[in-house]
Amino acid sequence: MSDSTYYLTTPIYYVNDAPHIGHAYTTTAGDVATRWHRQRGEKVWFLTGTDEHGQKVMRTAEANGVAPQEWADRLVESAWLPVLKTIDAQNDDFIRTTQPRHTERVQKFLAGLKDKGEIFEGAYEGPYCVGCEEFKLPGDLADGTGEFEGQKVCPTHGRPVETVSETNWFFRLSAYADKLLAHYEANPNAVAPQSAYNEVVSFLRTGLQDLSISRSTFNWGIPVPWDTDQVVYVWFDALLNYATAVGLGDEPGTPGAERFAEIWPASVHLVGKDILRFHAVIWPAMLMAADLPLPKQVFAHGWLLVGGEKMSKSKLTGIAPSQIVDHFGSDAFRYYFLRAIQFGSDGSFSWEDMSARYTAELANGLGNLASRAPAMVAKYCDGILPTPGESTAAEVAVQEALTSAASTADEAILRLDFLNGIQAMKSFVDVVNGYVTEQEPWVLAKDEANAERLSTVLYTICESLRAIAVLHHAVMPKATASLWEQLGADVALGPIDQQNVTDVARWGQLPAGTPITKGAILFPRLEETAE
Ligand code: ME8
Ligand code: MG
Repeated sequence: MSDSTYYLTTPIYYVNDAPHIGHAYTTTAGDVATRWHRQRGEKVWFLTGTDEHGQKVMRTAEANGVAPQEWADRLVESAWLPVLKTIDAQNDDFIRTTQPRHTERVQKFLAGLKDKGEIFEGAYEGPYCVGCEEFKLPGDLADGTGEFEGQKVCPTHGRPVETVSETNWFFRLSAYADKLLAHYEANPNAVAPQSAYNEVVSFLRTGLQDLSISRSTFNWGIPVPWDTDQVVYVWFDALLNYATAVGLGDEPGTPGAERFAEIWPASVHLVGKDILRFHAVIWPAMLMAADLPLPKQVFAHGWLLVGGEKMSKSKLTGIAPSQIVDHFGSDAFRYYFLRAIQFGSDGSFSWEDMSARYTAELANGLGNLASRAPAMVAKYCDGILPTPGESTAAEVAVQEALTSAASTADEAILRLDFLNGIQAMKSFVDVVNGYVTEQEPWVLAKDEANAERLSTVLYTICESLRAIAVLHHAVMPKATASLWEQLGADVALGPIDQQNVTDVARWGQLPAGTPITKGAILFPRLEETAE
């Protein structure tokens, strides 16, 4: 195992509005991946945060009659920080682009590029979409419909673009098309999944234009250090967060410089496919221009759709994460979105599908197994985990199923293939439930002559649950922590988050003699939670 840090980032989200489940989806995925890597014993750093500059945020603040900084503070405190608790995310840092640690390092980075001749002054004239905060090419636009009939609109937002005509500072992006192509040819995993990689490569083959990286017609942004009438283009500012948060550009010998040397480059930037090009074209070109190492991977996941369209703040189709979490709990939220949608593809949320999976897989599948085992140990063994007798083919099959599930899950989650990772875990739960049905411990318990056999079966179930708890912990931290306590494993083996997932299949870790207690039901049936 390498001792480099697994450094994962989410996009920094615009504070023009409160988060919906699309934002929570990316953060949940990042949280599961980073918890998994922590449970492999790796050093991990998980960064998320907010993108607070630019016209979109500025106009929202104006529309609400407050200054942009006040608006951003309000949204961060009331919505963006709380949602992390709602979904039970364990981020290590939270960066806001209005923090001095960010703005100062952005200015320094920009000045460095200017000194290297990467930045020049020019005139910009062309369409701009404030929703995307993006300069568009005429070919990017669509014909408007309805109230925008006859106008050119942004295909993402369906609203007319604005024409920008300004003297700006430009970044020599055009110089990097071939270098980026060569980089991606040499590093085919640097953009994933394959569809995203293909999109980036074919886009690069059409060539790149120089990029306007400053704006002069409004002032909500980081001042360009040598020309303070201009503010830095919000994307140029925002992309740098991944590096400013870990000490970009600090003087050698300072803690920031040491941190940066230790942690950079990022292992993976998780993004939605809407912002793939910013991350896989502009961002690496900025890093190349500064002679800095490129992120190891940009992973673009799909969209949560509503009526076939991307769920969005601007179209008011967002569902607040708390609407789902209040009903199903944070564990089920995390489980559902990563288990039901292939990470990298689009997917739709429906209450029916979520309820069905909750009932079948969590309440009946895992939850039922988890509640039966302590109940049987209480009833037949006075709540003490018995010493197993000799294993038969049935126990060997359970152990082999665990070995295979654990390695499949690990391999899948390292690829960010959460669906297949969780599927492997679920397949083991199914095997153990099948084992319980076949072994019928309640029948064994009727005859004293079966005492040893009963001990073996109950031990096998509880030891399987030990592994099930460890495997599912990254996905469902709360329920598994509760299960861990019920198994007495916290006392016998230490905290669940310290259990190494690469060692999970080693059989026999839960010691016989451990007191097992029946605790709260992990996944209450929905009828019981309905009002
Ligand atoms: O783009 N389905 O911020 P943003 C899945 N500030 N994921 C979704 C989603 C959906 N329907 N809607 C949003 C920005 N997301 C910039 C990023 S990074 C340097 C700057 C998620 O508030 C997804 O991760 O528009 C998407 O890329 C991100 O939220 C966009 O959030
Ligand atoms: Mg957006």
